[in-house]
Amino acid sequence: MTDALAAPPPPRPAAHHELSVLWVRHWTDQLFSFAVERPEDFRFRSGEFVMIGLPGEDGGKPILRAYSVASPGWAEELEFFSIKVPDGPLTSRLQKIQPGDRVLMGKKPTGTLVLDALTGGERLHLIGTGTGLAPWLSVARDPETYARFGRVIVSHTVRQVADLAYREFFAGGIHEDPLIGDEARAQLTYYPTVTREAFPTPGRITDRIRSGDYFRDLGLPEGFDPAQDRVMLCGSMAMIKDTAALLDGFGLKEGSNAEPADYVLERAFVG
Ligand code: A2P
Repeated sequence: MTDALAAPPPPRPAAHHELSVLWVRHWTDQLFSFAVERPEDFRFRSGEFVMIGLPGEDGGKPILRAYSVASPGWAEELEFFSIKVPDGPLTSRLQKIQPGDRVLMGKKPTGTLVLDALTGGERLHLIGTGTGLAPWLSVARDPETYARFGRVIVSHTVRQVADLAYREFFAGGIHEDPLIGDEARAQLTYYPTVTREAFPTPGRITDRIRSGDYFRDLGLPEGFDPAQDRVMLCGSMAMIKDTAALLDGFGLKEGSNAEPADYVLERAFVG
């Protein structure tokens, strides 16, 4: 009898937000960006990532992948920068989204590419390859970044010139930002490098660091100084490994949210 009278279990809260797509921009046949509406209760720190996905086909399980939020913590919309993997379970479908479509977003942002995980310094180097640029779009639009660091360098290494998504934005558009435009103009340097096509600053960022070109181009003393330089790394695993080894060689220590230090890293997520 008691069974029959027992109250039904309360409905489980939805695991994901279901959000409307606001815009989509295709950079190349391999790269695109999109933005979704921001739920009122969604808070995140600039540089964090969140799960993004689509409902499963034919009522199957939803497919989600981690994406860095490319918007700063104060933004009203949430922007993401993605590759298109032709056979990727998520991005083969996600690349077809249109404004008004719905995507799923996890409720818990997290990550180590945050100012909180770094100790104080004079210069902040944001080093990314491919879609590993995404968190820098967030961190470089956060006023706290310019309050904490006198100089901010966004470096982006890609194979081809066309892969330099957001080039115009970092080269000039960001200077018009009403919130951080003046700071960006005075403190931010964009440093693109291209590995498989002619370009004024050619080659891998690791090679340019090793040769000293990186520091000469930026008018900085050669080498990373543990007293002044702080670094965030995002992109291919190989780039992160090689750059982290270089930083270790200069005496920089890897940090985390629990133990802030000189540099932090996160793999760029692949859909
Ligand atoms: P490269 O063309 O010499 O491989 P991907 O498109 O494979 O994700 O790579 C994005 C960029 O990262 C490419 O320009 C690639 O250069 C560069 N890259 C790959 N591995 C490394 C590494 N170990 N160190 C530095 N850059 C790297």
